[in-house]
Amino acid sequence: KTPDAHIPRDPRLIRLTGVHPFNVEAPLTDLFNEGFLTSPELFYVRNHGAVPEVTDAEIPNWEFTVEGMVDNPLTISLRQLMSEYEQITCPITLVCAGNRRKEQNVVRKTKGFSWGAAGVSTALWTGVALSEVIRRAEPKRKAKYVCMEGADKLPNGYYGTSVKLNWVLDPNRGVMLAYNMNGETLTPDHGKPLRVVIPGQIGGRSVKWLRKLILTEDPSDNWYHIYDNRVLPTMVSPEQSANDPKWWTDERYAIYDLNPNSAICFPVHEEQVSISQGPETYRARGYAYSGGGRRITRVEITLDKGKSWQLANVEYPEDRYREFERDLYGGRMDMSWRESCFCWCFWWIDLNKEDLKNAKDIFVRSMDESMNVQPRDMYWSVLGMMNNPWFRVTIDIQG
Ligand code: MTE
Repeated sequence: KTPDAHIPRDPRLIRLTGVHPFNVEAPLTDLFNEGFLTSPELFYVRNHGAVPEVTDAEIPNWEFTVEGMVDNPLTISLRQLMSEYEQITCPITLVCAGNRRKEQNVVRKTKGFSWGAAGVSTALWTGVALSEVIRRAEPKRKAKYVCMEGADKLPNGYYGTSVKLNWVLDPNRGVMLAYNMNGETLTPDHGKPLRVVIPGQIGGRSVKWLRKLILTEDPSDNWYHIYDNRVLPTMVSPEQSANDPKWWTDERYAIYDLNPNSAICFPVHEEQVSISQGPETYRARGYAYSGGGRRITRVEITLDKGKSWQLANVEYPEDRYREFERDLYGGRMDMSWRESCFCWCFWWIDLNKEDLKNAKDIFVRSMDESMNVQPRDMYWSVLGMMNNPWFRVTIDIQG
């Protein structure tokens, strides 16, 4: 029996590690068919250990602290957070930095487990702006980082990490504390009763089961901040990285903003496509996202390994929430932070079946508003993170 075996979980989820801790992604087609918002049951889960237990009755009394370099240290209960702070609701996509790591493990084994391309999900998060909470604690002038700690006790201490205080205070970054997901209380796997949600950055910074916020002059010294969520230089081997701590303590290698990425959801890998039967075109579909609030500005498909490209159509369901947010949620939303793109978008293209005849592979790549484009070649690194080369599916052409 594992510590959280009693938590109800969807049987469609694919386990990526052993039975415990719980690390899962949905089958890619199921995830895609959910549409823009992922239901909590199919939302990917990345747990480093056992899920802290909190009953519904205990939720209002859940407390977290704001401490460290502040003039006014705070202990805030969820009851207070819900009643004394302005409530906001916002769709935000979370992505594990290990999304698509399987492709790296095939080339050369990394230290991480094999995510497919479904380590990404989107929910409508409700909570408060973290900047409001931090402001009330009155940060000291020298404070530069916000360290966060969860309630999950792990072999190397509580899970924790940090982000820059400037980002937390920047309305364009949209950092929030969330207690609801798609209008319901957070599920245990996703941080019940309270978590941080940092749009545009890797999921690893969005601490679940939040207990502590500590303002500091330096980045977090938590074990999980140092030994996780980094892209070390490609020549560093698993052995070298294990023997020399200097690779881990270099903050330049820590990952914050996501990079542009995309996947083909239809056709599925090795799908049989009939050339002679059905319509003359085949509709390929998939998702794309980027980091730091940057919008995906194009998605391109190649059927000849990059010699020529076709432009796909891109849809941004997030923009509909932007337009209707006042009617939908009533509460005030600071529009300035909604100019950022915090969600995945969807692309589609009708491919001419005549062109598909000669193609064995379909590749996709995306570009964002800073003209960051997905590379042709993989950047292998020891933790196998931020993998974003052109995404490929092989098709099985039938006459
Ligand atoms: N927070 C705590 N307390 N413990 C964890 O194990 N995992 C992190 C982050 N926050 C983690 C955590 C990682 S690596 C990711 S990718 C996201 O939570 C995953 O969030 P999700 O499980 O809700 O999808």
